Amino acid sequence: MKGVLKKIEEEILYCRKCNLWRERKNPVVGEGSWEAKIMFVGEAPGANEDEKGIPFCGAAGKILDELLNTIGIKREEIYITNILKCRPPQNRNPKEEEIIACSPYLDRQIEIIKPEIICCLGNFSTFYIMKKFGLKDKIQGISKIHGKVFEIRSLFNSIKIIPLYHPAVATYNVNMKSFLEKDFGVLRSILE
Ligand code: URA
Ligand code: SF4
Repeated sequence: MKGVLKKIEEEILYCRKCNLWRERKNPVVGEGSWEAKIMFVGEAPGANEDEKGIPFCGAAGKILDELLNTIGIKREEIYITNILKCRPPQNRNPKEEEIIACSPYLDRQIEIIKPEIICCLGNFSTFYIMKKFGLKDKIQGISKIHGKVFEIRSLFNSIKIIPLYHPAVATYNVNMKSFLEKDFGVLRSILE
């Protein structure tokens, strides 16, 4: 399985399926355990991530680390990636065609890791994951559905999907941090 993830990584390194490859310094494949039970899906790399090729290694990452810490989860135990693997210029929102081009990588990562829980960070991630798992009619803005747990069951497995505010919101709005802390409490209670 590790080899399959490696193969995806190599494809992403040379990927030119959308225009974002032109301005990226490094694509950000994802990081963590390929045996993780919990997967976090963000939006796209920011400047720090683009510089280092590592997901959530800037200000938003620091908040994510703090939140994980409060519920006793280490980064090594989870898998973190984004919908887009390359940084959009000036951190603009992902475009529809970029999500269409890039999301097959995320789909394959999910298939390999087979997470029991997917935490969606922010609106774009929530929309994509909920739609992918047949929850389109339950989609609402993140301010309405953050911290709710959506369970999808198939014959073979079940996945809990939890929309969360993007930790970047807490870097410019301190009050948001308490929402995030509360929602991470939901994640902890599921794990117990
Ligand atoms: N924001 C994201 O959505 N992903 C990152 O990796 C960093 C910031
Ligand atoms: Fe390829 Fe995704 Fe990067 Fe676009 S964002 S170039 S699809 S890896």
